[in-house]
Amino acid sequence: MSRSILTAVAWPYANGPRHIGHVAGFGVPSDIFSRYQRMAGNRVLMVSGTDEHGTPIQVQADREGVTARELADRYNRVIAEDLQGLGLSYDLFTRTTTRNHYAVVQQLFTALHDNGYIVERSQLSAIDAKTGRGLPDRYVEGTCPICGYDGARGDQCDNCGNQLDPQDLIDPRSKIDGATPTFVESAQFFLELPAFAEALKSWLGARTDWRPNVLKFSENLIGELRPRAISRDLDWGVPIPLPGWVDREDKRLYVWFDAVIGYLSASIEWSRRTGGAWEDFWHGGAAESFYFMGKDNVVFHSVIWPAILLGASGKPAGTPGAYGVLDLPDEVVSAEFLTMEGKKFSSSRSVVIYVRDVLERYGPDAIRYYLAVAGPESADTDFTWEQFVTRNNTELVAGWGNLVNRVMSLVNNNLGAIPEAGDLTAADLAALAASKAGFDGVGQLLGRNQVKAALQEAMRIVGEANGYLSVQQPWKLKDDPVRRASVLHVALQLIDDAKTLLTPFLPHSSQKVFQMLGGTGAWSGMPELREVDDLDGGPSYPVLMGDYASAQAVWESRPITPGAPIGPPVPLFTKLDPSVIEQELARLDPGETA
Ligand code: MF3
Ligand code: ZN
Repeated sequence: MSRSILTAVAWPYANGPRHIGHVAGFGVPSDIFSRYQRMAGNRVLMVSGTDEHGTPIQVQADREGVTARELADRYNRVIAEDLQGLGLSYDLFTRTTTRNHYAVVQQLFTALHDNGYIVERSQLSAIDAKTGRGLPDRYVEGTCPICGYDGARGDQCDNCGNQLDPQDLIDPRSKIDGATPTFVESAQFFLELPAFAEALKSWLGARTDWRPNVLKFSENLIGELRPRAISRDLDWGVPIPLPGWVDREDKRLYVWFDAVIGYLSASIEWSRRTGGAWEDFWHGGAAESFYFMGKDNVVFHSVIWPAILLGASGKPAGTPGAYGVLDLPDEVVSAEFLTMEGKKFSSSRSVVIYVRDVLERYGPDAIRYYLAVAGPESADTDFTWEQFVTRNNTELVAGWGNLVNRVMSLVNNNLGAIPEAGDLTAADLAALAASKAGFDGVGQLLGRNQVKAALQEAMRIVGEANGYLSVQQPWKLKDDPVRRASVLHVALQLIDDAKTLLTPFLPHSSQKVFQMLGGTGAWSGMPELREVDDLDGGPSYPVLMGDYASAQAVWESRPITPGAPIGPPVPLFTKLDPSVIEQELARLDPGETA
């Protein structure tokens, strides 16, 4: 039976272009999952957008000397282009500055407030001693009171991962001018997290299939719930929808409160744009929802977002708000961190590889392949250029690419079309059966988001096809054209299967193989960048959307069509010279090699 699946992908901050550390966590894994689910016949809604409010944007805007709005406009577009280049198949990639998003955020706030889960209280907030301006969150730095790390920020410590408040920091200082901030009492709105403790506990208790790291981390978090401030002294964000507050220029909702609501607002925007029903993915447990992110995002998805969903649905007590009773996440699929040649990614220290640069130099599938097979799926993982070049050359070029190239050349040179098979030998039948069995094996792993194991299994099947060819040696069968035709037929069927198995990981090259085997039209759909009008009268903006339903890719072995013409092979991957490693390392830190 066809399932409905919500793929909810973390929203990248619109504060710069994406580097591969970002897309390793949320981007490539969520796309592989969604493509597989669509191929398996399920209905998928994959949504996300750029996260454009709060201090991460404000800090970068100040640095670049532009307004927050200008910065968000600039990087919303850049990021949409990065993600499109990778072929990430969003049903809607939008942004948090749409009027639709503001309205949905305010509706959920109102439902929570009406049900008594949002309460106004006074809290100490930091003020810059020199300018008198408010210093939210990340503008304050100091020593972590938990682990002693000196570079902790007012919202969290990147060393130990704990959530902090600015006044917790030892020796706090303003990030803008280094001055010691003063703390004054200021009214803020708090989400009453302790009220959800029991509901969260029983929800998490039933999540036996999560990655063990993520489950353990989440269980620890709900052991110690405190009310959490969801407003800030800031002028950039969603206004607080209460009389006396909504017009204030100095108070906004906290960026994380509005960002997680993006999953719902984007689903509603998708409905409004396409006529699809967002309710099918949010109501009555009819759909399964999978949330993809890096591990620094877990608290927001396994505590705060479920609490918002519960409270706005009138649970544990109250009345459902404007969007009815909303489903909780089925799985928080969190990746660990990717480091870069042994160091933390850092744009400012140029320990970074931008998505657009790798796309330009190596194409989307080479980088998708690397992140799928060697990404930080369940442990922190180091990216090295050495490994990138090695895997590209041995696995993609010499393994899969060479199989396609050898067989297509033989068929093109000798036959010009897919041959009929004659009598099949036991070896032929065994090869075909092993290939067919891959759909169950790889499919089950993909359904559980074990991407690394799934790709290894698919590549093992490619290896077996290469083995079949080496044993059968069709290039030596000039004098036995009937047997040669059978071997080439089997080899082409193995290639056809393999390109299907590899489609979730390598959609661009699978499209090429599909065409080489006589296919026309879209095999696996690609996202399109469209310029759209804001639905409620705001400025226009770019979105990613796509027609994935009419693409032809299906998760099964399909018999190839004898007689279909086979032209000369087109190259799938590019062999990289080992000098690429040196070049890339030199780019990484120009200071060191100068
Ligand atoms: N912008 C956040 C980050 O990059 C992620 C937001 S995810 C969402 O860490 F839940 F808010 F959508
Ligand atoms: Zn710490």
